[in-house]
Amino acid sequence: MKNIHIIDDTLDAMADLVIENGLIQRIDILDGTPDPSQPVYLPAFTDLHAHFRDPGLTYKEDVESGSRAAVRGGYTAVNLMPNTLPVVSSVEQARDVEDRIAQLDLIQANQVVSMTLNEHGQDCSHLRSIPAGSIPFVSDDGKGVNRDDVMEEIFNICKEKDFLIMAHEEDARYSPQDLRMAENAMTFRDLQLCEKAGGSIHFCHVSTIEAITAIAEAKAKGLRVSCEVCPHHIFFNAEQANYYRVAPPFRNDADIAALIKGMQDGTVDAISTDHAPHTPEDKANGANGISGIETAFSLCYTKLVRGGFLTINQLVKLMSTTPSAMMRVAKGSFKVGMRADFVKVDLTTPYVIRSEEFASRGKNTPFEGQQVYGRVLETIKAGKTVYKA
Ligand code: DOR
Repeated sequence: MKNIHIIDDTLDAMADLVIENGLIQRIDILDGTPDPSQPVYLPAFTDLHAHFRDPGLTYKEDVESGSRAAVRGGYTAVNLMPNTLPVVSSVEQARDVEDRIAQLDLIQANQVVSMTLNEHGQDCSHLRSIPAGSIPFVSDDGKGVNRDDVMEEIFNICKEKDFLIMAHEEDARYSPQDLRMAENAMTFRDLQLCEKAGGSIHFCHVSTIEAITAIAEAKAKGLRVSCEVCPHHIFFNAEQANYYRVAPPFRNDADIAALIKGMQDGTVDAISTDHAPHTPEDKANGANGISGIETAFSLCYTKLVRGGFLTINQLVKLMSTTPSAMMRVAKGSFKVGMRADFVKVDLTTPYVIRSEEFASRGKNTPFEGQQVYGRVLETIKAGKTVYKA
């Protein structure tokens, strides 16, 4: 690849790249200033948090429509949540999903295993039979684990086995009454359990000022915690989103400001999509979620970079470099030896989000008609084009 404009977590330059066997073999930085009207190559994105609904709920999404949606959004690595039908509670089930995605040869996927059996919140003994270090993550995403004793046992097992807990923080006792209290109360409990166990935890889709503040304090104390924020939570407040249903819900401007500050100061480790495709019928019946993997980069680039809150290098770090490292995928920067996974984006021409153009089966978005910047023109995995607009 000759004379291209590359930007990653630290670089912003014109360059020649040599790609062989799917890897970056050589990078020659060139003299000269990039032409800002020309497309830019970034490291392809990694999503720590998405729902492909396969098996069992494939009328909403399946591994193929999900993979096509991912590459259309500029993603080549995706971490899938286990709230399918049945719930993924074993390594064998996880490998089946990963193998079927690998055969499509569009993205690399990791299928997360549930941290309680079938996400019932009662029993985590299945984790004891999974060999230490054999899976990166466990999660009951979609629900919190309400029983304190079960959650404490999960911390202890995961510490011993080196599994990272990806926690959906929502105390169901408070959900009908107060979704802020629901997120905050469980976040505070799990910070205490983390400290007590000497373990580690990753907080999914953090959305409140209280939760992000508590996480920042825990990090300052040296606890091993990480967290992610979703594009939708920083783009719209609840009113702007017309109270579109998502869990956790859209919040207010003070929450948004605190989440963005967390991105600026390093409290937030990654931006993940929580891509949650649903049919119109399921949405009408109250399903939570946004089909978000195809709009994530544009929403973040428009709000955070064009809005003057983050540099594009910081955004690349949050959407690619750090989540790739957390998923243990050798991509996420322009470095010799890394996999040649790139996304070519147009940063200067505005476009309008139209859900009918989504490759995802889920057309559920509160961003219909929204003008944004940062269209994905091409996605490349291991040197091969997997999506072209
Ligand atoms: O909005 C959401 N949708 N939040 C979740 O935690 C679960 C997800 C889903 O599976 O639909």
